[in-house]
Amino acid sequence: MNFLKRTHYCAEVTKDLIGQDVVVCGFVQKVRNLGNLIFIDVRDRSGIVQIAMNSKTDEKILDLAQQIRAEFVVSVKGQVKRRDSVNKTISNGDVEIYVSELYIVSKAQTPPFEVTDNINAKDELRLKYRYLDLRSSQMQKTLMLRHKVVKAAHDYYDKNGFLEIETPMLIRSTPEGARDYLVPSRVHQGCFFALPQSPQLYKQLLMVAGYDRYMQIARCFRDEDLRADRQPEFTQIDLEMSFVDEDDVMTINEGFIKHLFKTVMNIDVQTPFKRLTYKEAMDRFGSDKPDNRFGLELVDLTEILKETEFKVFGEAISKGGSVRAINVKNSADVLTRKEIDKLTDIVKTYKGKGLAFSRFVNGLVSSSFEKFLTESEVKKIHEKLDFKDSDVILIVADANNNIVYDCLGNLRVHLGKKLNLIPENTFSFLWVTDFPLLEYDEEEKRYVAKHHPFTSPKLDQVDMLETDPENVLASAYDMVLNGYELGGGSIRIHDRELQQRVFKRIGLSQEEAELKFGYLLEAFKYGVPPHGGMAYGLDRLVMLMANKDSLRDVIAFPKVQNSGELMSGCPAPVDEVSLKELGLKK
Ligand code: AMO
Ligand code: AMP
Repeated sequence: MNFLKRTHYCAEVTKDLIGQDVVVCGFVQKVRNLGNLIFIDVRDRSGIVQIAMNSKTDEKILDLAQQIRAEFVVSVKGQVKRRDSVNKTISNGDVEIYVSELYIVSKAQTPPFEVTDNINAKDELRLKYRYLDLRSSQMQKTLMLRHKVVKAAHDYYDKNGFLEIETPMLIRSTPEGARDYLVPSRVHQGCFFALPQSPQLYKQLLMVAGYDRYMQIARCFRDEDLRADRQPEFTQIDLEMSFVDEDDVMTINEGFIKHLFKTVMNIDVQTPFKRLTYKEAMDRFGSDKPDNRFGLELVDLTEILKETEFKVFGEAISKGGSVRAINVKNSADVLTRKEIDKLTDIVKTYKGKGLAFSRFVNGLVSSSFEKFLTESEVKKIHEKLDFKDSDVILIVADANNNIVYDCLGNLRVHLGKKLNLIPENTFSFLWVTDFPLLEYDEEEKRYVAKHHPFTSPKLDQVDMLETDPENVLASAYDMVLNGYELGGGSIRIHDRELQQRVFKRIGLSQEEAELKFGYLLEAFKYGVPPHGGMAYGLDRLVMLMANKDSLRDVIAFPKVQNSGELMSGCPAPVDEVSLKELGLKK
């Protein structure tokens, strides 16, 4: 064996051990060779400790130490001593190990970037050499945090009677609204497995099977365009419960968040969380995942402007849309005309046609739209928005309400960041409830399920499925944290007839429904407990807890923009033989 067995992790070597012999194993962070004095920082996942050699050290050891470079793997024995010059940047900077045995366990080439606490290299390089990137204390801390989150989830749900049950990876497609990753079958040529977009149907079938409470740390696959908060392969904390209503699911999950933040971060989260209906969330924040850590709420001007002769506003209203505004208080010095032009460009990326504004500077109002309105309309707008000196009003009008919400909702978040209105280190949880069950898909010219087609409509609204589909509300809820959709779920349909009625409403013929979900409908013939559940995006949860901006920072081996993985270089072509075996090539 060319190494000694560790007695302590580096960070455990503290002044309590002075005088004792210890063995540490790890990577070389840094070598300082001062001729007759050699100091080496050794790093492992706990932190760093300094090892020291001087002219009294065995010559063989000194010779060996001369060869050591950054990232070599070493194993060192020695006595813990107090250090002369204390290194205040590490917790055990007041001690060092005076070397009596030293092994170079593995040599290392000069790495493509220096491994530091917070690596400052191009993303592509970091991901290509991810195993080096993962050596940084930042990444190690984050992945340790992730471990603790998973552990807290297991502990909490176990204590509350949930059973962890694995569901298969090679399945018949479960729709969550994204494209499936498909796996060709060798045995059944021309047939494909899908990788699960979520374990949705399996967890429902576990309820049919009588398991009552299920949870799983579940890997999900969705072939959709990647964003900072979206990966094609991600992980859910997934759960399902029988004999519950919406409140039961929400309460047990508030309990989880409370437990999680207390055990992992020692933060007391107040429960119950605030609840907003979908409508209130949209009206106030222009978003179904509102960040309520700051104001800049939307104000509806439609009523005031419904008679207006100004076409931009009037036509939007007469076509069924709305005119809404944000008053950005005390911002006139920052939101200059030039800045407002930039905001207009942002609005356009969300399909807005324009951004009307009024700026109140030193008693004078300059505005892009007030000249087109009557004095009374202007007065009412100013009053409703409490428009004062130094304020800037921003208005979006559109015949499509969703465009108005989208523009102002995103503008609001942009301005919240730009004007530093968002308090740091606060975790603001809320529930959004009462989602519409369906939404109209303009491209497909049909209704689609807003959550997924197994979500129950509010039971007193079932009859509106045919007569007034757009206004049917769902027994669905999303948990939102700081403007991110952290998780979502619903009470499910547990009645075969109702399930078929919803399938029909979303344009699935009986044959199609049988073909896709026949096994669920079949199961529903044999006794179904009412059930509901939800799933958290584990990656998103860890990202927010670790205060990171991207899911990449909380996943050990993430995918990049084009859904590939740079280190192993996948996806990759496969050989002809495999293609032939799978029937993908003649
Ligand atoms: P949903 O599709 O809302 O619901 O997913 C649940 C949560 O998973 C996270 N999430 C993602 N995280 C990273 N990358 C992605 N591409 C991604 N997509 C979703 C989000 C989201 O809130 N079966 C239902 C749950 C249920 O009804 O019980 C489902 O999957 O944080
Ligand atoms: P116009 O009459 O096109 O010059 O528009 C007058 C003002 O209304 C300009 O400031 C435009 O940016 C603004 N505007 C145009 N379309 C919209 C819209 N859909 N919503 C809000 N403001 C708009």
